[in-house]
Amino acid sequence: MSKHRIINLLRNGQPEEEVTIQGWVRTKRESKKFAFMEVNDGSSLANLQVILEPELENYKIILSQINTGASVEVTGILAESPGKGQRIELHATAVTVYGEADPETYPLQKKRHSFEFLRTLGHIRTRTNTLGAVMRIRNTCANAVHQFFQQQGFLWVHTPIITTNDCEGAGELFNVTRFNLKDVPKENGEVDYSQDFFGRQAYLTVSGQLEAEAMALTFDRVYTFGPTFRAENSNTSRHLAEFWMIEPEMAFCDLQGDMDLAEAFLKHIFKAVLDQCPEDMEFFNQRIDDSVLTTANNIINQEFERITYTRAIELLENAPKTFEYSVEWGIDLQSEHERYLCEEYFQKPVIVTDYPSAIKAFYMRLNDDEKTVGAMDVLAPKIGEIIGGSQREERFDILEKRIKEAGMTPEQLWWYLDLRRYGTVPHAGFGLGFERLIQFMTGMGNIRDVIPFPRTPENAEF
Ligand code: 4AD
Ligand code: MG
Repeated sequence: MSKHRIINLLRNGQPEEEVTIQGWVRTKRESKKFAFMEVNDGSSLANLQVILEPELENYKIILSQINTGASVEVTGILAESPGKGQRIELHATAVTVYGEADPETYPLQKKRHSFEFLRTLGHIRTRTNTLGAVMRIRNTCANAVHQFFQQQGFLWVHTPIITTNDCEGAGELFNVTRFNLKDVPKENGEVDYSQDFFGRQAYLTVSGQLEAEAMALTFDRVYTFGPTFRAENSNTSRHLAEFWMIEPEMAFCDLQGDMDLAEAFLKHIFKAVLDQCPEDMEFFNQRIDDSVLTTANNIINQEFERITYTRAIELLENAPKTFEYSVEWGIDLQSEHERYLCEEYFQKPVIVTDYPSAIKAFYMRLNDDEKTVGAMDVLAPKIGEIIGGSQREERFDILEKRIKEAGMTPEQLWWYLDLRRYGTVPHAGFGLGFERLIQFMTGMGNIRDVIPFPRTPENAEF
């Protein structure tokens, strides 16, 4: 038996073709003469309508078993569908029910469930239309990320997840401790969590950047795509404790080249998703946010705005509204400021450059004014910061000074300084938060709903 995916049958299946599908029942309807069931196999939003006639072996038993959520295999003959909404349907000649789902307890009812409720069902919620579409878009984006970089000769490098550095210097780290589960007392015992990583302090990485820089100084152009961890206790719709980041790093590159790459990269991914997931994108436009398709087309067709931080502050100071956080040169831009710039003032993505050194990480290249650094953040409507990047400090003496000013020691980062000792070059890169990209793409309001199993302060059950 060779099985068919429903998406392919709906696109290319021909009447009279014999096919076999496997999937999960979405709905069942019985009439006097026959019964219908809608089957979904995860390959697309659309279900395949299956017609069951009384001649089918075990008809009555099967009817009692194919409730919403049951898993089935159906062999049958395709036919043109007389009904609206689908081109073809499947007339079953054999049905196997693999696993039933008790209608009394199956948690997904036909009505619409809130996203909050669905978050309590992390193991099952991807069987809903919205979460299913999110995960397919996620897959297409991930594929487009690799395609973009591979086409341009970037090497995919795997940077460590366990690390001893705090790349962003924000101090928001998860500690890695070593203990043997067998040593954990079963009842009322104290667990010694203080054991460290074989004699040194180690953390879950917040960013693969520093290691990616080392790789870029061999391979010229590299990128990472992996999980990163932040212990910030933020319960917002844009923060996760575990998220995926894509971090390209380019040798012989300045801030201008970095911005050009970020813009071309986002355009490529949006184009790939519009080309490859038209039905899912249409769904988001209809059901979640009716500006999703216009936004995607604008990303592809319009140039992003590029302004300095100093100019951004001027625009905010002159804004015809008052912000909750007051604006003056030196502040870190808050989400309300970022949103004003890209949603109200420019109405498109904005790249803000040259932030004050005091609010940015130690590795960013100091500008000639000695007050600002060669940083760039890409701000997206409704999300705010989606990309953070910079030209890196490639001059040994200045980097060493910046490390000390940030409260670290040159000994801790000896290898990172070594890269400035041996064959240093101007280089630059950025980090894109993968989940924020998916939020931006789909219009989904909460970051917890664009990753299969979100890790947040209140949510790590699954
Ligand atoms: O701005 P960030 O902290 O930059 C870095 O980590 C750099 N080392 C990147 C680089 O230059 N290679 O994080 C980069 C992006 C942010 O713009 C945001 O999209 C995302 O990562 N991000 C988060 N996404 C979800 N949850 C969180 N807690 C996030 N923190 C950052
Ligand atoms: Mg940032």
